[in-house]
Amino acid sequence: MKNILCIGAGYVGGPTMAVIADRCADCKVTVVDINADRIAAWNSDELPIYEPGLDEVVKRCRNVNLFYSTDISKAIREADIIFVSVNTPTKTFGAGAGRAANLQFLEKTARSIVEYAENDKIVVEKSTLPVRTAQAMSRILHSNTKNLKFQIISNPEFLAEGTAIRDLENPDRVLIGGMETPEGQKAIEEVASIYAHWVPRERIITTNLWSSELTKLVSNALLAQRVSSVNSISALCEKTEANIDEVAGAAGRDSRIGSKFLKASIGFGGSCFKKDILNLVYLCGHYGLPEIAEYWEQVVKINDFQSRRFVGNMLGAMFNTFADKKIAIFGFAFKADTGDTRESPACAVCLQLLEEHARLSIHDPKALGNAKLDLEGVEGDISYIEDPYKAAEGAHAIAVMTDWDSFKTLDYQKIFDSMEKPAFLFDGRNCLDHEALYKIGFNVYPIGKKHLTHF
Ligand code: NAD
Ligand code: UGA
Repeated sequence: MKNILCIGAGYVGGPTMAVIADRCADCKVTVVDINADRIAAWNSDELPIYEPGLDEVVKRCRNVNLFYSTDISKAIREADIIFVSVNTPTKTFGAGAGRAANLQFLEKTARSIVEYAENDKIVVEKSTLPVRTAQAMSRILHSNTKNLKFQIISNPEFLAEGTAIRDLENPDRVLIGGMETPEGQKAIEEVASIYAHWVPRERIITTNLWSSELTKLVSNALLAQRVSSVNSISALCEKTEANIDEVAGAAGRDSRIGSKFLKASIGFGGSCFKKDILNLVYLCGHYGLPEIAEYWEQVVKINDFQSRRFVGNMLGAMFNTFADKKIAIFGFAFKADTGDTRESPACAVCLQLLEEHARLSIHDPKALGNAKLDLEGVEGDISYIEDPYKAAEGAHAIAVMTDWDSFKTLDYQKIFDSMEKPAFLFDGRNCLDHEALYKIGFNVYPIGKKHLTHF
């Protein structure tokens, strides 16, 4: 039986290893973490992350061939293949602060492997990393004095939160990069054979190490670029009476452009887009390519601009003052179907509204716990409300920040009746029926579309 270990039991390590265990009955999969609370949660009925379909997969495999543990040294000793899926946030200090990736967690895992390993192993970079990190990994791992040999493989993860299980079970592609040596190719094949249990071979792409590492950064940059592109055009739509959904829909019908990922919004959030683009920007600077760095940095700048522009529109509509007005925030998660709020544009909007002394009542079906943590210590009048109707009661405005399905089926007549008048609704996701809301009496402000107002 093949022994697979994953170091890092987060949003990637947890679901990815659950699906591997589910699909590979001939493998024993162990997931370890330094965070004992997180491991306890993985072993409990209340998993540490919300992800549709995850509970079922974990329940099927846990304590059969899937184990969550804090015993890192034992797990390293026993493993044949070690996936490293630790966090790689943006550096907040020292050289490259605000752009470069903080690789301290990755380096610590490499040093743990050196310390506890007793035989040769394949080490798989699952975390998103700067191109050429495998070189540093290899140097650290081969500093061992036990004459052990390690093969480094890059196998970046492309799952999106909210659809992680679907993405893992039916990926567009699995990317595996390795050294162009016979040993490297053998290691690639070892890792490919795990995925081949359920992924068709033609979807398993193999490349050299550096292409694989760079592809991950580039994939996220290209996706984020589409969102910033469409958001930049949403601003022009608002000036010209063009409709962003019509423009993006018609442009996306060109099969060369494609229809996906062209939904205008208050901006992209999530733990990775911004950090990975900034990392790309840093790398371009590091390799003496300032023009390329500047090109990609613009994607992040437009994203910041979009949430500021949204609040600016709100302020203009609401007679240039929010002071002491109650604003209901519908959604705090960075996207629907997740409780994750990392880099959520909702947070950026809330902070700007609080600066203007608005009173906030925040509602989210899954992310209120994280919202509280994110806004802990922030000055202002903030309440966290489970019931959307209560959140909107007596409010001057509703700001929709997340495209939760549950928001589409609320009784907006009831909500309107309980609100201050004139009642405003700002749809930062273009996910509600604007005509219907307007007919009820709301003044409706979508993104990149005509405002529907009663004045
Ligand atoms: P996360 O913060 O949810 O999880 C990382 C885990 O690693 C944490 O639980 C942390 O305690 C643990 N850890 C850190 N150092 C450790 C050590 N030395 N030993 C053992 N455990 C350690 O992060 P995540 O969202 O799962 O992301 C992990 C990586 O995957 C990042 O590089 C990210 O860019 C990438 N990624 C994330 C997503 C996503 O949707 N979140 C998707 C694709 C790729
Ligand atoms: C993204 C990528 O889609 C994954 O392939 C990648 O693995 C992952 O980042 C990562 O590396 O972390 P994720 O951030 O979970 O996944 O979610 P997305 O669906 O990509 O959405 C990101 C943000 O963009 C969300 O805030 C979403 O609301 C926003 N978005 C997305 C738009 O505003 N418009 C769109 O058309 C699409």
